[in-house]
Amino acid sequence: MKLIVVSTVLLVATVDAFQSAIFPSRVVWKKTKQQVKYKQNHSWRDREGKMRTIVQTKQEGDLYMSLQSEDISKDSLSKVKETEAQDSFQEVCPYNDNPYYLDGTKPNSAFLLATQNFIRQGSALLEQIAVEKLGIVGKSYIPPEEKSPLVFGFTLSNEDVKEAERKRESRPGSKVESNVVARGLYEVGCFVLDELFDERPIARFWFLETIARMPYFSYVSMLHLYESFGWWRGVELRKIHNAEEYNELHHLLIMEALGGNAIWSDRFLGYHVAIVYYWALNGLFFFSPRAAYGFMELLEAHAVDTYGTFLKENEAKLKTLPPPAIARSYYTSADLYLFDDFQVGKEVGTRRPPCETLFDVFKNICEDEAEHVKTMAACQDYARVGKLVVSPHLAAVVASEDDPEKRKLWKKWAEDLNEEAVVEKK
Ligand SMILES: [Fe+2]
Ligand SMILES: [Fe+2]
Repeated sequence: MKLIVVSTVLLVATVDAFQSAIFPSRVVWKKTKQQVKYKQNHSWRDREGKMRTIVQTKQEGDLYMSLQSEDISKDSLSKVKETEAQDSFQEVCPYNDNPYYLDGTKPNSAFLLATQNFIRQGSALLEQIAVEKLGIVGKSYIPPEEKSPLVFGFTLSNEDVKEAERKRESRPGSKVESNVVARGLYEVGCFVLDELFDERPIARFWFLETIARMPYFSYVSMLHLYESFGWWRGVELRKIHNAEEYNELHHLLIMEALGGNAIWSDRFLGYHVAIVYYWALNGLFFFSPRAAYGFMELLEAHAVDTYGTFLKENEAKLKTLPPPAIARSYYTSADLYLFDDFQVGKEVGTRRPPCETLFDVFKNICEDEAEHVKTMAACQDYARVGKLVVSPHLAAVVASEDDPEKRKLWKKWAEDLNEEAVVEKK
């Protein structure tokens, strides 16, 4: 008996210790000492000066949460001390401010990185087993429904996603053409996703984004291989795929900021499916680049349907929440070269979407996915008829070289320079 008690205490202590080591951002949703009844108000000011508040109330085991937003005048705002507003913002940001928290900290030997990762993920596994199977919780344990992302209560109806897909495919020219095998694999994948992530849209998006960038790694790897063999250098194509991967990486980081990878079993599944998918696509690309692009076009179109449905279902709630820092830095940074580079159907600098709320963030992601669909369709044309796919930056240079007006300006500038040089000589 003593042994059981001691082992249990040791297990709880170990889980607690690891938990605080791997989840430094847990302070986000603070608990009061009273576990039975507590109330929290989280407020922040958006850029337009509107005060937004998340109110959480727990009474006799039931959690209530509401989101409030109200306009306040400049006068009343000036009464709020700047320091208070700052403290409030720091404390209330409801997201993981460090999406890299499960990563290593520097390049290292594979053995060391793997060991560190094994300890981090292993302790999270212990925690999940202790909670789910044995009902043991540590002192700092916070139930998933009280943390991001479940605390927001986002919804996503599998039926509505299927309906959005049916509608899109019924529109002329919007159905992605695919062979029977690709379509079959796609349908199985969608069914598994619906089953595993029912009522957990952010975890579903995290899983999708984890595997969604694998094809771009795969295409770049295969293009490197072609180069290494001396067969073909697809310079522009490789550049576009790199920009696409960078875009998908940021979708992934946004989902991590929202807590999409909080559960160990989701991470386990996501990482392993991603590796299998990567190697499968390498094989497919080796035999048919067109088929590899075609399958990805199917998935990207599905992503548009899924994000579009999510936006419709959660619009009001999303508009009251701030964007994660990683989203703001990606969509509004000074250097948007790579952001422009994957959108082969758009001119450089023509798409500068807002990023003021979480609604903007998801809308941007949805539009990014639509751009990926177009790029994948263009890549299939390239693979079929050799119609070159170039980055928008190269397209802009070529267009400006061909523009007679611009050529005239260049000519005049060159002539002026020459004239000045002649005058100086005299
Ligand atoms: Fe994505
Ligand atoms: Fe995507």
